[in-house]
Amino acid sequence: MSGISIQGKKVSKQFGDLKVLEGVDFRVEPGEFVAIVGRSGCGKSTLLRLITYLETVTDGEILVDDKPVNAINSDIRFVFQDPRLLMWKSALRNVVLGSPGRSEEDARKALRRVGLEGREKDWPGVLSGGQRQRLSLARALVGQPRALLLDEPLGALDALTRIEMQRLIERLWKEQNFTAILVTHDVSEAVLLADHVIVMDEHKIVKTIKIELSRPRVRNNDFAYYEQEILKYIMKNETGKEETDYVI
Ligand SMILES: Nc1ncnc2c1ncn2[C@@H]1O[C@H](COP(=O)(O)OP(=O)(O)OP(=O)(O)O)[C@@H](O)[C@H]1O
Ligand SMILES: [Mg+2]
Repeated sequence: MSGISIQGKKVSKQFGDLKVLEGVDFRVEPGEFVAIVGRSGCGKSTLLRLITYLETVTDGEILVDDKPVNAINSDIRFVFQDPRLLMWKSALRNVVLGSPGRSEEDARKALRRVGLEGREKDWPGVLSGGQRQRLSLARALVGQPRALLLDEPLGALDALTRIEMQRLIERLWKEQNFTAILVTHDVSEAVLLADHVIVMDEHKIVKTIKIELSRPRVRNNDFAYYEQEILKYIMKNETGKEETDYVI
């Protein structure tokens, strides 16, 4: 199963009088890995919720596989910062229940893929933060989704666990060929994982940057160049200056 394309055409979203997105255009190609960065409150999570039809657009349209979205699509799965597990169910049951129609065998395979073999019977409460996030990845991926939307999935993890999880996400993406959209506050994480980085600010996409680095990526001078470039666009509106170099 391969990834799907996800497109927004002049997407606007308002909550009452609050304008959150205004005329946003983007296109994510099948199997592409896109990161979205931008300051808190600029509408990143709202955009993901519109793609999954958890919210509906005020104006414009979202197209998945070039067809307008008008229902929740089981080919698209979400992973959140908070793993949202059923604490009174075993790891295995969490995966099975999270994807109706999937067998225990599928769930065991998914747990193996994320490195949780042997933890099937454990309660989520005894797993570490990183393991809980692996479990939530297994639950999202067991049904072989064609797109995975990740809303700051690693935000609550320590630095070393984050690095492990970034490698895991990249490996699963390569193995399963889904389209990935990752919202992150971590510019370095965006450069590490994404084919394109979308920078959002004040209801809009202000810049899309193509990351032309081979994988697996190493934190060399070229890597740092992209980090600086992205930061420049994030900070631009704050300082009014475009050319400043920011120390990371
Ligand atoms: N259901 C809702 N009702 C009213 N306002 C909302 C709703 N959902 C989001 N908002 C508002 O929309 C704006 C954008 O929120 P959103 O969660 O998309 O931001 P974000 O970019 O994901 O921020 P963060 O980086 O802090 O997660 C915020 O001002 C938020 O309060
Ligand atoms: Mg958010």
